[in-house]
Amino acid sequence: MIFRQLFDSVSGTYTYLLASRRGGEALIVDPVLEKVERYIQLVRELDLKLIKAVDTHLHADHITGLGALRDRTHCVTVMGEKSQVDVVSMRLSEGDKLTIEGIALDVLYTPGHTDDSYSFLMRDRVFTGDTLLIRGTGRTDFQNGDARAQYDSIFNKLLRLPEETMVFPAHDYKGETVSTIGEEKRFNPRLQVKSVDEYADLMSMLNLPNPKMMDVAVPANMRVGLAQEEIARRGWALSAVEAMALEGKPDVALVDLRERSERERHGVIPGSLHAPYCDLAVNVHAGGMLHELARSTGKRIVFYCAFGERSAMAVQAAQDAGLSSACHIQGGIDAWKRAHGPLLQ
Ligand SMILES: [Fe+2]
Repeated sequence: MIFRQLFDSVSGTYTYLLASRRGGEALIVDPVLEKVERYIQLVRELDLKLIKAVDTHLHADHITGLGALRDRTHCVTVMGEKSQVDVVSMRLSEGDKLTIEGIALDVLYTPGHTDDSYSFLMRDRVFTGDTLLIRGTGRTDFQNGDARAQYDSIFNKLLRLPEETMVFPAHDYKGETVSTIGEEKRFNPRLQVKSVDEYADLMSMLNLPNPKMMDVAVPANMRVGLAQEEIARRGWALSAVEAMALEGKPDVALVDLRERSERERHGVIPGSLHAPYCDLAVNVHAGGMLHELARSTGKRIVFYCAFGERSAMAVQAAQDAGLSSACHIQGGIDAWKRAHGPLLQ
């Protein structure tokens, strides 16, 4: 396995790059905007293909690299379903798996530092965001933080993992890089409490100054969505209502770019084909399934996904590959549901 822990010294943020093999798919956790060039260089040096970028929560102390990485690499942006960020490509909830080739991370909802904090468990290691830090815990005094929820997330979820599970947090300010669940249980001063009340009291007395970047970072991080307007301006977007009028038409092929788990959870537009976004490049180029479908039948390809992000990138790729009638459903299944479009569960 390829595993890299990268550090942004300005914000004290750890970013993680994961892949199962050289030449394979990669995932990045908690990327920092200013370091995006470095990540892209490392991905290239290790001969990887960046497939997904995930944030553990809406950060207040740095601007996320999610949007820039999506723009540069066409990767899928991922956050938890509780996040207030405007648009990401994919949203996950407790019990879901965050997958790339050869790697599957279990999604744990661990609120408390913020109400959109998630942890990601990969067998022997857990990415705890700012929920559990090394010999500390994330502050709970802003962004809908809640010390009692954090106590529950830590004591009833994270500390129940095997003691040898390695803990990789989103931050460290003292140069610590990794810990274990067992170590934190015994030596984390914040966790030596006898009750949730004692923990809440402890957290209420921290009196920390706000992060320097907070007024800039929080609003910026809430707007990472791709500008789907540009695709619309070129005439390559349909509203959900317009797309509903095309459903069942013989000269249209609706193409679902989502993963199987998303299809099962949120339903499928009747009659649509499934062609996951990860296979897009192969599918839209000459000889690929969608390319040949469009060419041989003259059908108009109408892409859709969860929120319109992957489908907007797919339209651009298909147009670049010469499929000039390709378009997408702006806002994805989310917009389709709101327009009361029919779904097969
Ligand atoms: Fe945070």
